[in-house]
Amino acid sequence: MGFEHTSVMPQEVHEHLNLKPGNISVDCTLGGAGHALATIKAILPDGLLIGIDQDLDAIAHAKKVLHPFKKNVQLIHSNFSDLPTILNANGIKGVNSILLDLGFSLNQLKNGNRGFSFNKNEPLDMRMDIRNDLTAFEIINSFEENELVNIFFKFGEEKFSRRIAKRIVETRKNNPIHSSSELSQIITKAIPAKFVYGRRIHPATKIFQALRIAVNKELEKLEMFMEIVPSLLLTGGRLCVISFHSLEDRIVKQAIRRFENGCTCPKGLPVCLCGFVPQLKSIFKKPLVPTKEEINFNPMARSSKLRVAQRV
Ligand SMILES: C[S@@+](CC[C@H](N)C(=O)[O-])C[C@H]1O[C@@H](n2cnc3c(N)ncnc32)[C@H](O)[C@@H]1O
Repeated sequence: MGFEHTSVMPQEVHEHLNLKPGNISVDCTLGGAGHALATIKAILPDGLLIGIDQDLDAIAHAKKVLHPFKKNVQLIHSNFSDLPTILNANGIKGVNSILLDLGFSLNQLKNGNRGFSFNKNEPLDMRMDIRNDLTAFEIINSFEENELVNIFFKFGEEKFSRRIAKRIVETRKNNPIHSSSELSQIITKAIPAKFVYGRRIHPATKIFQALRIAVNKELEKLEMFMEIVPSLLLTGGRLCVISFHSLEDRIVKQAIRRFENGCTCPKGLPVCLCGFVPQLKSIFKKPLVPTKEEINFNPMARSSKLRVAQRV
C-alpha cells in the first residue's frame, strides 16, 4: 500500500515558521514529509533542511519525496531529543526554524503493521523506532497490574483503567495477548456496557494512546526537548509545535511560558538572583486550531493545536 499523508494546518505552519531563502530549518517529525516539502521550497536556493524521524519508513519515504532537493536536505533516522548532538556534529550553532508535528502518522496507523490501530489485527508492537527494545506486547504481557493501571491513567486518562488492567492480567494467565484486535476486545469487555455505547470514541482509544506513549517514551522525549529548545534557535528563530492531546500540549505550553517569563526569583527580591532571562516569546496567547473545513477534509486534525514561539 502507498504511503499516505495529510499534513495538519499546512498554511498556518508555513506562515509561522517564517521561512526565508537561505534558512537552516529543522523538521523534527518528517512523517509523510508534507510540511518538509513546503519548507524546502521556501528556503531554496541555498537553505538547508534537516529532517528527522525515528521511524525508518518515514525516512525512506522522505528520501523519495525530497529527492529533487537532495543537495539542500539532510535526513536523519533519530529521535528529535538528539537534535543538539546532530547540530553539533554538523558544526551548526543555531537554526532559523524548528517544527514538531507530534504523535503518529497516518501511514503508521494504516500501513505500519505494528498494532497502532485498534481496528486492525496486527502484532502488539507500537514502536516507532524498531531499534528500541520495549514493545506494547511486553508491557501488556509482563508488567504488573498496578504498573498497567499507572500507564493507563497517566497517559490515557482512562477512568476504567483499574478494570481494564485487571481484565488484561486475568486473560494473559491462560495465553499471552498477541494482537491489537485481541486487546481491543478485552478492553471493550472490561468497560461497563452503558459506557461503551455512550462514548463518542472507540472504547480502546485511550488505552491504545497510553500504550503508544509509554512504548515510545513520547512525553519524556518531548519534555527533554522543550528544556533545551531555546539553545538550538538563532535569535528571531521560530518554533512551531503541533500537539494532539492535552498531555503533550501542557508540556509545550508550560515550557514556552517558563522561557518567556525568565526570572524565577520570589517576588519582592530587590535584585534577580537566578539569572534566568527570557529566551522565548509566545506569538499567540492561545494555540491555533484547524478550521472546520480542514477537520472535515482531514479528521485526524480534529484535536490538534499549534503553538508558536520566537527566540528572543
Ligand atoms: C504526525 S506525523 C508527522 C507528519 C508530517 N509533519 C507530515 O507533514 O506528513 C509524526 C511523525 O513524527 C515521528 N515522531 C514522533 N515522535 C518522534 C520523536 N520523538 N523523534 C523523532 N520522530 C518522532 C513519527 O514517527 C511520525 O512519523
